[in-house]
Amino acid sequence: MRLIALENCGPGTKLGKSIYNEKGKVLLTKGTELTPPLIKRLRKYNISAVYIEDELSEGIEIVEAIPAELRIEAIGLITEGFHIIADLRSSRHVQGMMKSDRVIRSFQKVFRDIHSYLSSNQQALNLLATTKIHEDYVYTHSLNTSMYTCQLAIENGLPIKSIEEMGLGAMLHDLGKLYIPKEILNKPGKLTGEEFDVVKKHCELGFEILRKIDGLPLSVAHCAFQHHERMDGLGYPRGLTENEIHRFAKLLSVADVFEAVTSSRVYRTAMLPHKGLELLYAGSGTQFESRQVQLFKECIAVYPPGLPVKLNDGRVGIVSKYHFRSAGRPEVRIFRDEEGRNVSPYEIDLTASEHLAVDIVEADALLN
Ligand SMILES: [Fe+2]
Repeated sequence: MRLIALENCGPGTKLGKSIYNEKGKVLLTKGTELTPPLIKRLRKYNISAVYIEDELSEGIEIVEAIPAELRIEAIGLITEGFHIIADLRSSRHVQGMMKSDRVIRSFQKVFRDIHSYLSSNQQALNLLATTKIHEDYVYTHSLNTSMYTCQLAIENGLPIKSIEEMGLGAMLHDLGKLYIPKEILNKPGKLTGEEFDVVKKHCELGFEILRKIDGLPLSVAHCAFQHHERMDGLGYPRGLTENEIHRFAKLLSVADVFEAVTSSRVYRTAMLPHKGLELLYAGSGTQFESRQVQLFKECIAVYPPGLPVKLNDGRVGIVSKYHFRSAGRPEVRIFRDEEGRNVSPYEIDLTASEHLAVDIVEADALLN
């Protein structure tokens, strides 16, 4: 299986992976042959690349970060739970509190499942593998962010209690967005100053609700309140600096930004993981705590399998396998030589000593 730019997909190209909607339901099943109307529809959703199955990529396997059933269960729960909790703002009666208590318990259960899956499977997270079409983005974002946060918390060596609190905080961090008009959240193009001020309110709105829920640790509410703060004090809503920011929020902000930029939105296409990582490095020490950026690099598949890459000697290939904790130096199936001629495919392992001078200089679905 390999990733190929949508514009390079001819009619008859077979989808290698299913494409899901926001609720986790399958929209296009694996094996579907792309037709011009389908390609047009995918483009409308800003999907710029899809996984295909062909001879060149035979045997290259793409592993989902978590099983599809768990993803569907989690998305369903987050969607329902967000609304139940958000309704508490208008009704503070006992029934509402009981409902929210049930929601929190189910969130805890689903996060425990995610945590036990991620901690027992030693692999870097590859969320590129799940192509989603989403108009209502907040739920998928919440789930993915909690997965990245979980992996980062494991990498930090934190105790299970902290990991669970942080996971819950990550799932609920953008709850306040339910009160922000969709026209602003999904606006294509740049927000005006006033619109941005409205968006910024989601932190406090989420905090105000979450802190009132009995049995929910206050740190969860602080995740909502502080996830847009920056180390240099230029964040919002309060412009906190370094040690003033809750340590959970520091981890969460790295996961949050990475998830946001590597997902396609109504108004833009997704960045590939290595570009998302570059963006984190650009903010290391100013926006993010440097140590968290370093650790995050270990959590994700920088060059996931199926991704077309160009090497510093001009050769082009597809990532065939990544190495956990050396995700920047995967195995590559070369199909084009230094002169740009197609050659019969062969594999090189960038961690092998004879290839240490070889580096990936470009990764792009358009390289195919
Ligand atoms: Fe946010």
